[in-house]
Amino acid sequence: MKTFFMIKPDGVQRNLVGEIISRVEAKGFSITKIKMMTISKELAEQHYGEHKDKPFFNDLVSFITSGPVVAMQVEGENVVLQIRNLMGATNPSESTPGSIRGDLATELDKNVVHGSDSGESAERELSLFFGQ
Ligand code: RTP
Ligand code: MG
Repeated sequence: MKTFFMIKPDGVQRNLVGEIISRVEAKGFSITKIKMMTISKELAEQHYGEHKDKPFFNDLVSFITSGPVVAMQVEGENVVLQIRNLMGATNPSESTPGSIRGDLATELDKNVVHGSDSGESAERELSLFFGQ
């Protein structure tokens, strides 16, 4: 099974790339594609299309395009759910210590990582970022 996983601009800017990738690898998953890139406005709007009617949509697009990200394809057993578990809850105020967001983030809009929320999202997002 495959998922799409991304270190957001705040994680890159804070030099947390190695720390975050280490957690994914130490858990036992394989990174089978990886690239550093700056997301265009168009790609951001497609990627976060499910949120286009939310009040925070414009801020979300601005933030995710504000600097380089590290985009990855990650493979392993039940990886979509397990990566979400490694990430912790969306809001760092609710993510438990031990999770990436629980250990490394304090703010909802700067929560350092993204991971696909379902198998369907994973296919869609991998296709958007890696064209498969
Ligand atoms: P992500 O897509 O970034 O991995 O995060 P997620 O699945 O855990 O959360 P999601 O509901 O998809 O929300 C996407 C991002 O939007 C920001 N957000 N802001 N102001 C708000 O109420 C609000 N709600 C969500 C967060 O930065 C979240 O990661
Ligand atoms: Mg999401």
